Amino acid sequence: MSRVVIAGIPALIASMLLLPGHANAAQCSAAATPAQQTAAIHALMMRMTTAEKLGQLNQLGAQGSATGPKKQRLVGEAEIAAGEVGSFLGVRGADQTRRLQEVAVTRSRLKIPLLFADDVIHGYRTTFPVPLAEAGSFDPDLAERTARIAAVEASASGIHWTFAPMVDIARDPRWGRVVEGSGEDPYLGSLMAAARVRGFQGRKLSAPDSLLATAKHFVGYGAAEGGRDYNIASMSPQTLYDVYLPPFNAAVKAGVGSVMASFNEVDGTPMHANGMLINGLLRKQWGWNGLVVSDYTGVMELLHHGVAANRGDAGERALRAGVDVDMVSEIYAKDLPQRVASGHLPLGIVDASVERVLVAKCRLGLFDDPYRGSDAARERASILTAEHRHAARDAAGRSIVLLKNAHDVLPLSKDIGKVAVIGPLADEPWAMLGNWPGDGKPEDAVTPLAALKKSLGEQRVAYARGTGLLGDDHSGFDAAIAAAKSSGVVLLFVGEGPEMSAEAASRSSLDLPGNQQALADALAATGKPVITILLNGRPLSVGKLADASSALVEAWFPGIEGGNAIGDVLFGDVNPAARLAITFPRTVGQVPIYYAHKNTGRPPSAGEKYTSKYIDVPWTPLYPFGYGLSYTAFSYGDLKISSTRIMANRRQKVSVTVTNTGMRAGDEVVQLYLRDEVASVTRPVRQLRGFRRIHLDVGESRVVEFELGRDDYAFHDAAMHDVVEPGRFDVFIGGSSEATLKGSFEVVSTR
Ligand code: BGC
Repeated sequence: MSRVVIAGIPALIASMLLLPGHANAAQCSAAATPAQQTAAIHALMMRMTTAEKLGQLNQLGAQGSATGPKKQRLVGEAEIAAGEVGSFLGVRGADQTRRLQEVAVTRSRLKIPLLFADDVIHGYRTTFPVPLAEAGSFDPDLAERTARIAAVEASASGIHWTFAPMVDIARDPRWGRVVEGSGEDPYLGSLMAAARVRGFQGRKLSAPDSLLATAKHFVGYGAAEGGRDYNIASMSPQTLYDVYLPPFNAAVKAGVGSVMASFNEVDGTPMHANGMLINGLLRKQWGWNGLVVSDYTGVMELLHHGVAANRGDAGERALRAGVDVDMVSEIYAKDLPQRVASGHLPLGIVDASVERVLVAKCRLGLFDDPYRGSDAARERASILTAEHRHAARDAAGRSIVLLKNAHDVLPLSKDIGKVAVIGPLADEPWAMLGNWPGDGKPEDAVTPLAALKKSLGEQRVAYARGTGLLGDDHSGFDAAIAAAKSSGVVLLFVGEGPEMSAEAASRSSLDLPGNQQALADALAATGKPVITILLNGRPLSVGKLADASSALVEAWFPGIEGGNAIGDVLFGDVNPAARLAITFPRTVGQVPIYYAHKNTGRPPSAGEKYTSKYIDVPWTPLYPFGYGLSYTAFSYGDLKISSTRIMANRRQKVSVTVTNTGMRAGDEVVQLYLRDEVASVTRPVRQLRGFRRIHLDVGESRVVEFELGRDDYAFHDAAMHDVVEPGRFDVFIGGSSEATLKGSFEVVSTR
């Protein structure tokens, strides 16, 4: 049996034994003070063998199924009873989690409760829009609300720990995982990260409806070379610190309980062995003391990266780097005991990680109630309620982006005669749920076809699939064309299947797959107005599709209420206001393309050959970051900057008057960008530094005020110092990253 000697423990334990409610010092209560919790955990650790300690760091997957008759042996049951497992991934449902937990708290020697982890990414049973879509709402409160509902549902189902939010900045849409995050911008990404952490974790982690959140994937995963998943990331330290790290920092400041290491290497060091960034930056520099979990077999993959000669090496490198929990590799549990026994791996390093696991369990209240009040009745009452469905419809409506609306063809009149509903995604429930659907079920999803049949009546809907998502099948074209000809308007639903984005779903082309463009062209040739609704998980190079369409609507994967929400937008019950959280390129050859690029020494210029551009395609995007149309129009004026010269540490106020000049009430996303004109290192041409989604009635004006401060001017210089340099800053305000209303001021002191 291993022994751990912790100075001062006996006195603390003794004092705890005197406290009411703490008769057993080994029980760590969420209600206790941090010092009492530490003492209880240390006392518990003194009773643990090395194997039991490493067991706490071992996370098993839900291989097979934990369902079935009560007496069936559940996956991992023997390991749980032997104290060899600390957490599970992907076991869900009140019944299953309760049964496994019961084994842990009744049959294991020390009765330490298990942690149940799952990927609750954009809803649990009530599926919300995919995160990239929701980021486009430019509404962090919405992200907080949907994360809260996800937590309420998942926790009722026995889950304690979600592997979300995904906060990777993503600037390469070939990478399928762009769908899981908040897009290309660190400012927007940081606000969304913090909002989701607050939503998942609630006001108190120990509340039975809170989930431990995980900021993932730490770090640089979005910079995968060539957009190929799991590939290496190479970047300047400035880019790492100013682009990829800020959302993690925001999550940490919001109190995130855990962080997941990423599969990639950064400049030669795989993140699962990157002690400099995990123990050094995240823990020491940022002062964060949460739990770091590996990604799926990430510890084992150190072998493939070529930085570990055997499993023991891999485990030791990961643990020493600060990766506390080994997801699924089973290296910590199986290969590290020998290393500890031989004295190669100091027990203190194991202990630090075990303590973090036990602290997480304690803070979640698992020692108080290992089931956290989860049972089948609560599960039934909490999941997929009418209120949650309503929130899903609202969230989808707030996340749909109007990309084109020629001659105000939208919104459609409800008196419109017959509509042709066409396309491979018009009636595909999985395209509502999207990838990482949680516990979402296709039978819960309302497809556009179902929604339109319900709202218009079956006889007013002519449906034809037209073609599949992939391949070159033309056989459905005739029926689709006939449906179009018999109708006043075509609603065309095209895009990608959910399996075409997210993990291991990189693409080398951003074109609409299969025969869908040909279908759009054939429908456009009928002369009927074609309203195209995209369902997809990444920016697509859809210039030709836009040309074939009178209107283009980006609905992403909108969640279970997607069909209804799309109907709300098409018929004007919802005035679309969401924006793109990621740039749409004209062609994959422009990638990476993002608004906050550098100017270069030869900024692109139409008349000058020797400038930074292409000879075969414009340098500009198809649709820029922050872009999105409305059924009304907004004007901007009266830009006011409180001080023309200001110290960095003083609050600068910038205001603008926004007016709804159109014929409908609507939301506008007012965006503020800054440009640092001259600095010691090159700076982006502009950076988002504020936004506000506001509602304006017809003719209404509002003064929107932003505050700027040191963080808005700061960057990392060549020596990697976090600096503000004095000089002129330009301010741009408007409804997209191409905002033109401009002012400027000078920062006169760096502090
Ligand atoms: C993904 C993670 C996810 C984990 C567990 C991995 O393959 O990269 O994002 O949380 O699986 O499902």
